[in-house]
Amino acid sequence: MAGAREPGKPDRREAGGRERPLGEGTRAVRAGVPPGAQGDPFLPGPTFAAPYHLVGDVDAAEYVYGRYGNPTWSAYESALGELEGGRAVVFSSGMAAVSALLLPRLRASDVLVAPSDSYRGTRTVCEELLEPQGVRVRLLPTAEQDTATFEGAKLVWLETPSNPGLDVCDIRALADAAHAAGALVAVDNTFATPLAQRPLDLGADFTVASASKMLSGHADLILGYVAARDPEHVAELRHWRTETGSVPGPFEVWLAHRSLATVALRLERQCETALALAEALSARDDVLEVRYPGLEGDPAHAVASRQMARFGPILGFTLESRERAERFLAACRLVIEATSFGGVHTSAERRGRWPGDAVPEGFIRFSAGCEDTGDVIADVLQALDASAP
Ligand SMILES: Cc1ncc(COP(=O)(O)O)c(C=O)c1O
Repeated sequence: MAGAREPGKPDRREAGGRERPLGEGTRAVRAGVPPGAQGDPFLPGPTFAAPYHLVGDVDAAEYVYGRYGNPTWSAYESALGELEGGRAVVFSSGMAAVSALLLPRLRASDVLVAPSDSYRGTRTVCEELLEPQGVRVRLLPTAEQDTATFEGAKLVWLETPSNPGLDVCDIRALADAAHAAGALVAVDNTFATPLAQRPLDLGADFTVASASKMLSGHADLILGYVAARDPEHVAELRHWRTETGSVPGPFEVWLAHRSLATVALRLERQCETALALAEALSARDDVLEVRYPGLEGDPAHAVASRQMARFGPILGFTLESRERAERFLAACRLVIEATSFGGVHTSAERRGRWPGDAVPEGFIRFSAGCEDTGDVIADVLQALDASAP
């Protein structure tokens, strides 16, 4: 029938027959969802399989053994690949993804440039696994990344915004400089998500992230991925996953894919609350410093506005002491005291309780959830009042 569209496929033709690009909310709902046939579910359920039927040669079937591949992974990888603008490989955790990039790529005397203020797990891999093997690691704060340090580097690792300090660096400029020096570039995109920032479009070779946070968003699973454009890089990552067995469970992957449909909606509320809270906190005399890339006047704002489509649900603020921060957290009624971030439940922690993060003792990392914005702000303000000396 002329003019009919395929079932399940949104009509993207504008007057004049041009393809209208899909909005990010639409892309998130539909990413990796197969076209489907009569009687199919929209998103096929998880496939639980160790071996698959395999008659004849080992390459006679697409799926052979559960450590090599799984259709539930394939669907989620295709979703993540669409959102990041590359091809994704899913791993059992964000740290498994970070390790899959760092460990096989660097050998004795290779130079890695990495942020000194990155997520602590990444620094641990650098300091406890790479350096003892003879890899030379040059660490520099995110806000002070210096292209001079790229000379002789094999890999440049960026994390922007950084966890937990929320500093930002210019991916495009640093990727250009790193490539000119002959280095590959990886960006940890966990704090941003591909809905806010697409490192591959900005020149990075790899984007890596924990999917345990905003992307899955319900505080109920651990997962990670790397996305790249070079098919050789993708094949290397798959090979590492297969041979080291850093494979995700199909149920976690399916849950993450199911949750991806609401990520744009969730982020909309989360980012709105984060900005409103950052503004409310900035107006208080008893909050020493507020960090949120979306806040005008934040040191990260100018670069973040250029490369990020939204500023994320995470902010940081500093109270005068460890004791005040602990009293503040204890006085919160709605905000859950917990580590991690990005889920539908608003949560916060005194980040200095973890060893190794160079933040003030009174620094709170705050993750805005999906509760009503007014309720979250009211809870934080009452907890600040209640915890005042
Ligand atoms: C920036 C960043 N990268 C990587 C990771 C590791 O992710 P996962 O906890 O899923 O292993 C985290 C975890 O908090 C993180 O914040």
